Amino acid sequence: MLIPPAVIEEIKFRNDIESVVSAYVNLKPAGSNLIGLCPFHSEKTPSFTVFKNTQTCYCFGCGSGGDVVTFIMKMENLDYVSALEFLAKRVGITIPRNSNDEQRQVRSTRILEMNKSAAKFFHSCLISESGKEALEYLKKRKFSPALIKHFGIGFAPNSFDALYKHLKSQGFTDKEMISGFLCKMSQKTNRPFDLFRNRVIIPIIDTKGNVIAFGGRVLDDSLPKYLNSSDTPVFKKSKNLFALNYARRDCADRIILCEGYMDVIALHGAGFSNAVATLGTAITPEQARIMEKYTKSVVIAYDSDEAGQRAADKAFKLLGEVGLDVKILKMTGAKDPDEYIKKFGPERFKRLLDESKTHFDYKFESILSKHDVSQTPEKLKALSQVTDVIANVASAVEREIYIAKVSEKLDVTKDNLKHDVDKKIRQQIKEKQKNESRKIMLESAGFGDRINPDYAKNVRAASAEESILSIILTYPELLKKVKDGTAELCADDFFTAFGKKIFEKSIELYSDDISFDYGLLGSEFTPDEMGRITAIVLKRNKLSQNGEQELYDCIKVLKSEKEKQTASLTDIINARRNKQ
Ligand code: CTP
Ligand code: MN
Repeated sequence: MLIPPAVIEEIKFRNDIESVVSAYVNLKPAGSNLIGLCPFHSEKTPSFTVFKNTQTCYCFGCGSGGDVVTFIMKMENLDYVSALEFLAKRVGITIPRNSNDEQRQVRSTRILEMNKSAAKFFHSCLISESGKEALEYLKKRKFSPALIKHFGIGFAPNSFDALYKHLKSQGFTDKEMISGFLCKMSQKTNRPFDLFRNRVIIPIIDTKGNVIAFGGRVLDDSLPKYLNSSDTPVFKKSKNLFALNYARRDCADRIILCEGYMDVIALHGAGFSNAVATLGTAITPEQARIMEKYTKSVVIAYDSDEAGQRAADKAFKLLGEVGLDVKILKMTGAKDPDEYIKKFGPERFKRLLDESKTHFDYKFESILSKHDVSQTPEKLKALSQVTDVIANVASAVEREIYIAKVSEKLDVTKDNLKHDVDKKIRQQIKEKQKNESRKIMLESAGFGDRINPDYAKNVRAASAEESILSIILTYPELLKKVKDGTAELCADDFFTAFGKKIFEKSIELYSDDISFDYGLLGSEFTPDEMGRITAIVLKRNKLSQNGEQELYDCIKVLKSEKEKQTASLTDIINARRNKQ
């Protein structure tokens, strides 16, 4: 391990989990614990719990959890050592450095420097002879020279190593270029080659002004239309928004959320400097939370086609869940904002913005447009659909407003409509309960268990295993008894590979001179695995107080299951032999 255990203990001791988590989650007391909305998944009722006495946290909704280090790993997207460094810095502890650390630290800053150099290179190519065609293309799309400069747009020449040679001459290494997603190693020539070729290049810049990634568009109809940087040490596409570096200054009231780079650039060019876009993926909860930090309302301006509208539905939900006021812009006569502005001009787009609708109005209108409500059967269909929509609204006050609206528009009484809506809600609750219990059943049976896929193969053994781990991770003195052989248990007694690894690593990390806590496993397991380990430790709450007796009982179960398995294996072998 890079950082001495005593230092880790000190870092953890000084970073009280409550104060660390509070910076990200609004925590409220619940008994001796604290609860809040989980920062790792979207939810409306808090299931994220901070246990003050054990200094751990766990989300009963999504299974994220661990100690303060795991929390920071997941929250700040850092590896174990970087998370410890982050926490050390927070409380002013200096970690004794070794050269390994420094190498890793250098890398991110080197990639950022390299990206900056690459962005300059791409831009200079665009305004040079080789970029003539690309510049022509941008002109055709009505991108002014000022706009091109503002966004630092460039061109990647049609060459396998133009960028590679340039970066090499600037002193960047092959390894840096490959890990920064600018080059890839060719299996044939055994040399790196440029990933972005013959494309218009759009640099992606974060709010600190760093060039963190690139998007590249072809000049014609060839495929793929866009090539985007994959995640790199300095870039996570799920946690960034294109053009937020500009939009953040101008978006306190409203953000315009688009699907594509080109829409955003066109909007900024037309004076809407509060436009942002996701980076070639559907919107994530992280991105919703980022927007919530900068603004109070979002207008979704996705493509007008079916796919765009489905994506808008999803975005609406995620953005609403973080507490943003969300509206949807309805465009007709154009595919996307870029095209709309070109066709109809900025003023008309401004009008669309101001006319953008709440989700309900938008849905209601689209239902009305699909049914001829002067015909009774059609009217009934429309009513049933709109009842569904209202039943999905969480706030009773909001429901009342919508019911009034619909009753007026479709000429039915409010009472009858409310009756139908309430019935739908009851049905939905039942349905949900059914699904939940099904999910719990499947999960406890281990189906779809990514973290411990062996669980389902022998639930009795796996469950005994979890109880054992729960006990020894809660009571270090019992872990000690296992380690010194007082309690007879070895790694091979374990049934699942996951359980076995937890056991082995715990034994390895346990030493008499430090106070063992299972958070130390964070150096060996992923944050998702740590969440599961936390769940296992929490199981302890449900067990009886006599941990030691329980431990021996569970070891017995485990060993007898193992015997059965060996026995059945012998049966199989014997059966084979008899056949021959
Ligand atoms: N996208 C992508 N890869 C593709 C196609 C699309 O990453 N092969 C992403 C890009 O971020 C793009 C967004 O999805 O900006 C929207 O796609 P699309 O509507 O097809 O592109 P436009 O933004 O309209 O681009 P253009 O106007 O240049 O055709
Ligand atoms: Mn477009």
